[in-house]
Amino acid sequence: MSFNTIEENKNRQSLTDYDEIWLFGYGSLIYKVDFPYIEKARAYIKGWQRLLWQGSHDHRGTPDNPGRVATLIPAEQEICAGVAFKVTHEVFDHLDHREKNGYLRHEVDIYFDEEGLAKKGLIYIASQDNKAFLGHAPDRELAQHIHQSAGPSGENRDYVFQLADALRAMNETDEHVFAIEQHLKNL
Ligand code: SIN
Repeated sequence: MSFNTIEENKNRQSLTDYDEIWLFGYGSLIYKVDFPYIEKARAYIKGWQRLLWQGSHDHRGTPDNPGRVATLIPAEQEICAGVAFKVTHEVFDHLDHREKNGYLRHEVDIYFDEEGLAKKGLIYIASQDNKAFLGHAPDRELAQHIHQSAGPSGENRDYVFQLADALRAMNETDEHVFAIEQHLKNL
């Protein structure tokens, strides 16, 4: 069974049509910036909640024992904080490969402060109907799962620790991520 979204992402937007391309990162893209960018800024998106509900078969888990990483679930009242990167279209070959396990590129309104005007940008979302989606589990169970998962990019728990640290460094809170982090520390 393949979860690979590389081919599908290639045909989703015509990247060369954009005058400038902003990419919004809300998970590992916040703290593992392994691609060139022109500019970087704190940013927000509205109507989405970050949750550790996506299975990771290629980075923080394996096909037999997938780990758990962040995706976004529609949630009307929520604001999700992250980082926006101004990039060129060339970086998407690398990013589509990196995010290939169920993530599709979507257009999104990116806000650079909570009051300001939005700019159109791109974001990777692993939707609830993708084959690697794991969905809700009670916090303790979810943390236990993460505690015992690892993959080619390292321990699954380090994904959560690095994400939580990066959010704290930006003075942001995320109740879900911080709760799972606390459970992991108690294990
Ligand atoms: C993102 O960081 O924006 C996507 C999810 C991830 O790679 O962790």
